[in-house]
Amino acid sequence: MADQSVEITEGCRLPVLRKNQENEDEWPLAEILSVKDISGKKLYYVHYIDFNKRLDEWVTPDRLDIKKLQFPKKEAKTPMKNGLPGSRPSSPERDVKKSLDLHVQSASATSRGKTLPTLKRKAESVSLATQVTAATPVSSLPGSVDASQASVYPAMRDSSFSIKSRDEHEPLTSLTSLTTNGTSSIQHHHIPPQPGRKRKSCGGTHEMVKMFQNNSPRCSTVFLLPGEDSQDSSDGIPSAPRMTGSLVSDRSHDDIVTRMKNIDCIELGRHRLKPWYFSPYPQELTSLPILYLCEFCLKYLKSLKCLQRHLTKCNLRHPPGNEIYRKGTISFFEIDGRKNKAYSQNLCLLAKCFLDHKTLYYDTDPFLFYVMTEYDSKGFHIVGYFSKEKESTEDYNVACILTLPPYQRRGYGKLLIEFSYELSKVEGKTGTPEKPLSDLGLLSYRSYWSQTILEILMDLKSENGERPQITINEISEITSVKKEDVISTLQYLNLINYYKGQYILTLSEDIVEGHERAMQKRHLRIDPKCLHFTPKDWSKRGKW
Ligand code: ACO
Ligand code: ZN
Repeated sequence: MADQSVEITEGCRLPVLRKNQENEDEWPLAEILSVKDISGKKLYYVHYIDFNKRLDEWVTPDRLDIKKLQFPKKEAKTPMKNGLPGSRPSSPERDVKKSLDLHVQSASATSRGKTLPTLKRKAESVSLATQVTAATPVSSLPGSVDASQASVYPAMRDSSFSIKSRDEHEPLTSLTSLTTNGTSSIQHHHIPPQPGRKRKSCGGTHEMVKMFQNNSPRCSTVFLLPGEDSQDSSDGIPSAPRMTGSLVSDRSHDDIVTRMKNIDCIELGRHRLKPWYFSPYPQELTSLPILYLCEFCLKYLKSLKCLQRHLTKCNLRHPPGNEIYRKGTISFFEIDGRKNKAYSQNLCLLAKCFLDHKTLYYDTDPFLFYVMTEYDSKGFHIVGYFSKEKESTEDYNVACILTLPPYQRRGYGKLLIEFSYELSKVEGKTGTPEKPLSDLGLLSYRSYWSQTILEILMDLKSENGERPQITINEISEITSVKKEDVISTLQYLNLINYYKGQYILTLSEDIVEGHERAMQKRHLRIDPKCLHFTPKDWSKRGKW
């Protein structure tokens, strides 16, 4: 459909033909990110506006609707290759995003200067606009529930819970604030230290969740009783990305190169993987039709011949490091990013193909990598992994998490998440994944948090006809899910309402039944008895 007389250049926008999930034709607006000429035939690299970047692709001219071509605005000739933040031509919505980026940059520049000057990471760009995709709506805050609504709860068949503020004038909304990725951050309250549990940042808090079961076993109410303000200075989720951990906010390298996927296909054991995003494999390997990886040591090779030669020498049949978990065919290996540098770097290169984050590639020292494998007679095959900072000042228990595409949507992501919280339980800490979450990351965490919290609420037993009680802190401690994530999940599930001066959580039949159905399908679970893990105190070591 492309008219050869019109030059379609980088920054132009026009509808481009693609297949949707139902395999039907659709013509979403797309932006041309690059043009290449192969033996006189043009190919266009397109980004579908408002679609995730992983759908970006090279298309032939016949897929372009040239009649609706929009040229880039003049001032929009921004930052394609000049290293300034925001690498795409501007458009109304992009201008908004850009101002957000600028805000984030200045904020992070301050934090960089203040606290985090030491770690040296390869700085790649962070695409905030595509990362922070609240894939699911955030429910209204409890403070906005009016009395007429609230009065319905005790009488109905649903389970309900209430949250009461010790200071009746203090609505829960003053305790929580929503962030852009749909999570909430608590501002005044803290988890009190519990005997026998080591807490990193603890303060005094007294939220009490009371739960009562009405006549129906499914009807219950929980009271939350927030106490007086603690000295908690934490504002929960940071307002800007940071330089530590695996993410950086410096977008100065967000150039034409890193915006486009550069590897066409990866062969890993019996799988062929199609990368979603750029990964900094050596330039000379990016023109290959297939990049070959040893599935055990993750070394990359340029041809099948090279791989076969490598396999005669490579004795690994499992990831390096210690196997700290095994149940059935599932194992987890703990790998120290300092001790097994080559493996860790190769893992990061592979992972970057599916993570739109800025991730570390060379400085793996501060991280541990937990690789999940599935065993068969040929060895322990990598299914997914997560990385974790040896020391996190922000209570992060996961830096990056990935299920390799052939294994996705089969429950392995939630298994990885469950494992990360089992580690936190052994450490006696609560944890949270590093932000920003990807769209798929948010979906998976939301689902894990919802199921984990509902499991606890529904297991609560009423005593002497009293409504069962539990505090948010207790939920957090039982699950090791950071309090902010507990609260954001309760809000997301729309459980929190205000009734007679108390915050009530209501479990509707729909929620209960939906939860039971989901749990019946959740076959893959971590068995804590099979975990053999002793946390190290990294702060006591001179160097990681
Ligand atoms: N579309 C819709 N829902 C999805 C999708 C999808 N493509 N993928 C996962 N989900 C939902 C599932 O339905 C499931 O919820 P449910 O049980 O309530 O139905 C939930 O997410 C988890 O599904 P799993 O099968 O357990 O997860 P999976 O093995 O697919 O792994 C993961 C999830 C790790 C996020 C995977 O999609 C992935 O590796 N993505 C690429 C890398 C990435 O984005 N990682 C997270 C970045 S954030 C961070 O690193 C802290
Ligand atoms: Zn190998």
